[in-house]
Amino acid sequence: MAKKTVTSEILNIEPIDLSNLASCGITEECLAGKTAVVTGGASNVGLGYARALAWSGANVVVADLNETAGNETQRVINEENGRDCCLFVKVNVTSQEDINNLKEKALAKFGKVDILINNAMNMRLNGPVLTSKVEDLESSFQISAKGVMMAIQAFVPAMIERGYGVVTYSATQFHYCPPMVGGTIYTAGKAAATSLIMSLANEVKGKGVYVFCLTPAGVARIDFSKMPAPPAPKPGDPPMPKFDPQMMKRMMSMPGFDGMVPPEAGGAAMVYCLLNAEKLHGSGFLVSDAFNAMNFPYPKPETVMPPQKGHRLPDMELTMAFCTMGPGFDA
Ligand SMILES: NC(=O)c1ccc[n+]([C@@H]2O[C@H](COP(=O)([O-])OP(=O)(O)OC[C@H]3O[C@@H](n4cnc5c(N)ncnc54)[C@H](O)[C@@H]3O)[C@@H](O)[C@H]2O)c1
Repeated sequence: MAKKTVTSEILNIEPIDLSNLASCGITEECLAGKTAVVTGGASNVGLGYARALAWSGANVVVADLNETAGNETQRVINEENGRDCCLFVKVNVTSQEDINNLKEKALAKFGKVDILINNAMNMRLNGPVLTSKVEDLESSFQISAKGVMMAIQAFVPAMIERGYGVVTYSATQFHYCPPMVGGTIYTAGKAAATSLIMSLANEVKGKGVYVFCLTPAGVARIDFSKMPAPPAPKPGDPPMPKFDPQMMKRMMSMPGFDGMVPPEAGGAAMVYCLLNAEKLHGSGFLVSDAFNAMNFPYPKPETVMPPQKGHRLPDMELTMAFCTMGPGFDA
């Protein structure tokens, strides 16, 4: 298949080329014949997933609220791969009508959906328990919990009928709120979705549908020098969380916090996980676990632990405090 370098004035992307990952089973055909739905697929993590999946031969339905970025994602992916492999559908994952429309459009275009990547989230919905608006918590749950459940109900029954499917979720490692996350509205919503996903793993056990959570910790292309200063607080605003350098230092020294991971590399990790979905069923782990298993030392070779000895999500103290997820690649 013809691959092309495509640029975009709207999307924050770099060229994607996964051809050095053949030893991990990642080839231009490794997902051929598969169709994936990626919610929130028009930005950062989800965009990286969608591009990597299409590079690997899959058809991709990008379901996102952002129409401009979504249309551009469809153009970029189709041009990159030289085939009509990407469909953008404008979707608010909190709307049953939109999810029904997504299902209809995906099936009309590609005939089936084999892979569901629940990734959409509004990360700006955040704040402390004491002072946040209840409506913000509600919105967080609408996207994270309701949106994930409706997408599961739309696509998983047909996967069970066909005896094949993969469902995954972009989880967070913070299921309760350490100071650096700045509030619990985000983490509470994420925890609800993780709970649904890990419960689904039990419900579909033995039916050919594989379910796992992948935590894209630190996946972003951010130019910190271009980041605007935060606006000065107005009277009545909830207090900003205090920046705790010690906490930050501790976080950065934790396995898995290797710095920023480009979304294209995050996408490669997702493809690898999809290829190994059966092994990962019932697991939750960090993107760097996938890199360890891939022997793909990115982005700082010196900080990546050798394959086989990668840490597991349950080892992370913050996660342990909340829940126990499965063991990931080393099981
Ligand atoms: N970036 C990270 O390092 C990181 C770490 C842990 C978890 N995550 C999770 O990964 C996911 C993606 O993160 P990101 O950094 O790419 O975020 P992002 O804000 O860049 O992208 C989120 C996408 O979701 C879309 N979206 C928001 N609300 C929606 C809705 N109601 N319906 C449909 N689409 C909607 C947005 O338009 C956007 O395209 C999120 O679920 C986030 O919680 C990210």
